[in-house]
Amino acid sequence: MTPVSREKYYLTTPIYYPNAEPHVGSAFEIVGVDVMARWKRLLDCDVFFLTGTDEHAEKVSKVAKEAGVTPERLVEDMAEKFKQAWKSLDISYDRFIRTEEEVHKRGVVQFWRIVRDKGDIYLGSYEGLYCMPCESYWTRTQAKAGVCPECGRTLQTLREPAYFFALSKYQEPLERLFRENPDFLGPAFRRHEMEETFLKPGLDDVCISRTTIHWGIPVPDDPKHVIYVWFDALLNYLTGVGYGTDEELFRSRWPADLHVVGKDIVRFHTLLWPAMLMSAGIPLPKRVFGHGFVQVLSDDMGVEEPVKMSKSLGNIVKPGDISGKYGVDALRYFLMKEIPYAGDGAYSERNLAMRYNTDLANDLGNLVLRTLSMIERYVGGRIPEGHADPVVEWPDADKVLHAVAEEVAENVPALMEELSFSAALEAIWSLVRAANRYVEETKPWALAKDPASRPRLGVVLYQLAESCRLLSIWLSPFVPTTARKIRSQFALDEAATDFALEAAWGGTKPGTMIRKGEPLFPRLDLPGTT
Ligand code: MSP
Repeated sequence: MTPVSREKYYLTTPIYYPNAEPHVGSAFEIVGVDVMARWKRLLDCDVFFLTGTDEHAEKVSKVAKEAGVTPERLVEDMAEKFKQAWKSLDISYDRFIRTEEEVHKRGVVQFWRIVRDKGDIYLGSYEGLYCMPCESYWTRTQAKAGVCPECGRTLQTLREPAYFFALSKYQEPLERLFRENPDFLGPAFRRHEMEETFLKPGLDDVCISRTTIHWGIPVPDDPKHVIYVWFDALLNYLTGVGYGTDEELFRSRWPADLHVVGKDIVRFHTLLWPAMLMSAGIPLPKRVFGHGFVQVLSDDMGVEEPVKMSKSLGNIVKPGDISGKYGVDALRYFLMKEIPYAGDGAYSERNLAMRYNTDLANDLGNLVLRTLSMIERYVGGRIPEGHADPVVEWPDADKVLHAVAEEVAENVPALMEELSFSAALEAIWSLVRAANRYVEETKPWALAKDPASRPRLGVVLYQLAESCRLLSIWLSPFVPTTARKIRSQFALDEAATDFALEAAWGGTKPGTMIRKGEPLFPRLDLPGTT
């Protein structure tokens, strides 16, 4: 029999400007991508997860200058800080690319030459409205009142001899891409926004080199110019999988299956990027997903207004500070549950602490702990036999629990595929709550007192152990450490290896000796909560 080749899945985060350390906003983005990567691994896909740092931004060289170090030194140190931050959040990336790497630079030079030889790069002179902090030129229509539509700062008029990329040539192919591939950009409202705001008014050619800047990759055969940071950065998605240096790897990974990006950079990824690829004759990524922003509530003259969390607004929260205090999984869970991935939502430590106590300690932690305690106390720590009868003959309480578990299996996969992580967690919690209700209804402590109820007690405890086993699978992309702990407590393999089989009801093996261990989420003592 020929071995069935595993479906490949290549997904990316944007690469981060290393002028500042990551904050909870960047954590929200990368945790979402990590959840997706772990979900696809659970489905046995051959996953490749790329992240990294976008090092040739002008603001990076400015920060280096202020700090009295070379930009090379700064980006090297900062890349380490990003790696540490992602490690502390349990981010399971496969490759961390830095745009200072030789392999990246070689790929960029190769790409530039191909596009130039195609006639899509030409020398001109550029005068435009430029936003320094955002590294973006804006047209007059976009920059109403001469301020940056992104950050609201005053724009500068900049004139320089420059190379251009013939983006306008790709107006029609891009319109076709949006029309014929509605899944290319999601969620749908972002696609409409792109079409209305950028495509319909018509695309201008893009300036892709600077002579005013010296930090970056020199333009091939004209080194007075440095390649525009976005033209350089977007290519990380190719060079991170071998473009220009390892063609075999590149052929095996490209095209990307999913680029996840913030809503502020969707236009670079769905207009400039596909046009660059079309010009170079490279297949397009399959899907781009534009997520929303983590905001913080700021007091605006007595009224709480949500504003984006960002270094320039001075309102950042460091993920390490929060995960150090509440645990990595509590932060991961909170970010994925509290803020719908597609939209915006507010971060607040108070809400995190509340959700910790309600969802994690009271609902999930309590379910697992009491299931283990009862198995230990009432049946000597060994999981009893479950139902011998078919589901139709089960008591109502058991049928309801089973039906909820089936609903989870029915609904969660589609929610995961559309990156509706908060809704997926809501669905998973319906099983947590159903299992807790089942305990209240079946009252195992009463059954344990009556020798005639021993068989029923055994079945009840089996149903609960089975619910916990299923939860360890569904939760594993979101809270990997917790999922592993649950699996170890129920003496299961560290991870599910055959998802289709193991996500179905009935996988718990009677006779298994449990290992009770510590509570998953000890309750926090919060003022005003019970
Ligand atoms: N370097 C570019 C991306 C190049 S990709 C080829 C860049 N870097 S960034 O560091 O400014 O932003 C990286 C990502 O972080 C973006 O997707 C941005 O939307 C995201 N976020 C920054 N602040 C955020 C929040 N407050 N909330 C959610 N995401 C946030 O842009």
